[in-house]
Amino acid sequence: MMHSKLVLASLLLALVGCSPSEQASTQAAQAGVNPFKPSGDVKHIMKWVVDPAAFGIWDSAGSIITAAGTRELAPTTDEGWLAVEHSAAVVAASGNLLLMPSRAVDDQGWQSIAQGLVDAGLLAQEAAKNQDSDALFDAGGQIYRVCKACHSVYVRGDGAQDIL
Ligand code: HEC
Repeated sequence: MMHSKLVLASLLLALVGCSPSEQASTQAAQAGVNPFKPSGDVKHIMKWVVDPAAFGIWDSAGSIITAAGTRELAPTTDEGWLAVEHSAAVVAASGNLLLMPSRAVDDQGWQSIAQGLVDAGLLAQEAAKNQDSDALFDAGGQIYRVCKACHSVYVRGDGAQDIL
């Protein structure tokens, strides 16, 4: 009996035991800093959050020219516009994900470009909310320029040109 209680107690201890990074975030929380819990590095955020959301906007902005003529990409239904608005909200929120302590590059360039992503995302969200295809096209262009601005400075090495 005694024995099994001991086993249970040490099992519980093992379960609540903290990894070094959890200890660090607990210390940060105690110091009054927000207890961020990063879900991935910058690359992860790019691949799974920023990039799909940006394409959710670009695929619905402007027009494409095909053999059959010009086709407008703007949504034609309320659901379609809502999906674009959702993507735009994700782009806006992702600007702040890039400012989290584990991801941010500690200089003003990074910080203002990431804030620019918030602004551009909010512009796109407003355009989608108003179902304004011209404004959405402009906001999509602004988002693209923000992506390029950051990559041109902060992405180095082979393949940097291919990203965007
Ligand atoms: C504040 C800086 C910043 C902004 C803004 C930014 N990126 Fe990035 N992006 C990076 C960095 C840094 C990398 C390289 C990450 C790595 O390989 O570690 C990257 C990499 C990528 C990648 C490659 C991911 C992979 O799987 O290797 C894609 C795709 C990408 N970005 C898309 C975008 C798009 C689309 C936008 C705009 C909507 C954007 N990024 C805006 C900094 C930024």
